[in-house]
Amino acid sequence: MKTYASTVLITGGTGLIGRSLVRYLNERAYRVHVLTRQPGPYHFDAHLKYFFWDWEKDKIDPKALENVEIIIHLSGANIAEHRWTDNYRRLMYRSRIDSLKFLKKKLIDAKIKPQHFIGASAIGYYGCRTDDLMRYENHPPGNDFLARLTVDWEKTSRSMNEITPVVSVLRFGVVLSPEGGSFPKLYHAVRKFAGAPLGTGRQWFDWIHIDDLINLIFFVIEQKLEGTFNAVAPQPVRNAEFMKIFNTIAGKFSLLPRIPAILLNTLYGEMACLLLEGVPVSAKKITDAGFNFRYHHPAKAIRNLIQKF
Ligand SMILES: NC(=O)c1ccc[n+]([C@@H]2O[C@H](COP(=O)([O-])OP(=O)(O)OC[C@H]3O[C@@H](n4cnc5c(N)ncnc54)[C@H](OP(=O)(O)O)[C@@H]3O)[C@@H](O)[C@H]2O)c1
Repeated sequence: MKTYASTVLITGGTGLIGRSLVRYLNERAYRVHVLTRQPGPYHFDAHLKYFFWDWEKDKIDPKALENVEIIIHLSGANIAEHRWTDNYRRLMYRSRIDSLKFLKKKLIDAKIKPQHFIGASAIGYYGCRTDDLMRYENHPPGNDFLARLTVDWEKTSRSMNEITPVVSVLRFGVVLSPEGGSFPKLYHAVRKFAGAPLGTGRQWFDWIHIDDLINLIFFVIEQKLEGTFNAVAPQPVRNAEFMKIFNTIAGKFSLLPRIPAILLNTLYGEMACLLLEGVPVSAKKITDAGFNFRYHHPAKAIRNLIQKF
């Protein structure tokens, strides 16, 4: 008979990262509660439950909070799939920060004190720019929209220490998964002989394989690791190098020498900075804490992800 571990509440558990995390924790005998704004249908079992919330309308199913020991906050309007209009910027902000403030208040009202809170953040913290200075967790933030959003997002996560003894903040890099996000789009371009470097191609690409990210989150839970950690593979590469490796592994080449920055700026506005800029981000703190990556080099990750397609 399985012995069940802690009860974990996941906001955004229906998203790209959340779906993998929910499967992983469920397989490892954690009781999982997912908070979602969508009616489903979902695959339920005795230890995996989906509960409705709508932080904008002050609604949450109180059963979602029962016996919760660990909270993982992943929810937020997608950053890379919508043009950053003023309205959308507000939604990106509120869906991460106000949603967490709402959850915190409901926990306080219900007198529930979880043991561990894990908040998602992003390497956008370091700012939308390109240079070769390695970024460690104690580096100051950038000063653009995404960096400022990330600073407030992290601040709200850290404020969870008023009700939780252990708070962890994870700055995710670009998550490579066969199920969505950037990898399927890149693979599509590569297959159409359009897998060209973006802009100058000199910007750093801080990636992480989805399996490593899920293992890393699990490591943080099991070790009760407190503090801020970059969640990126130990080997960042420049965009041009990444695309070269991708084309080689897929047995393709690009008919275009580059995708011009002006085109991406016109298509995506300020969001194009996600594609055109990047600094190198270090995984040293999490590896020093004892975490072992399975996918160090992009070639190994790309080979594995192509097989899963
Ligand atoms: N994927 C990456 O490469 C990456 C990189 C860096 C940081 N991150 C961050 O990590 C977190 C999880 O990433 P992900 O890729 O799994 O995101 P995702 O696939 O876009 O899913 C995010 C989840 O957030 C919820 N959500 C969307 N809009 C919302 C809103 N207006 N209010 C409240 N909840 C909303 C949705 O859940 P429901 O519809 O079920 O409510 C959705 O399933 C996000 O905050 C993201 O910014 C991701």
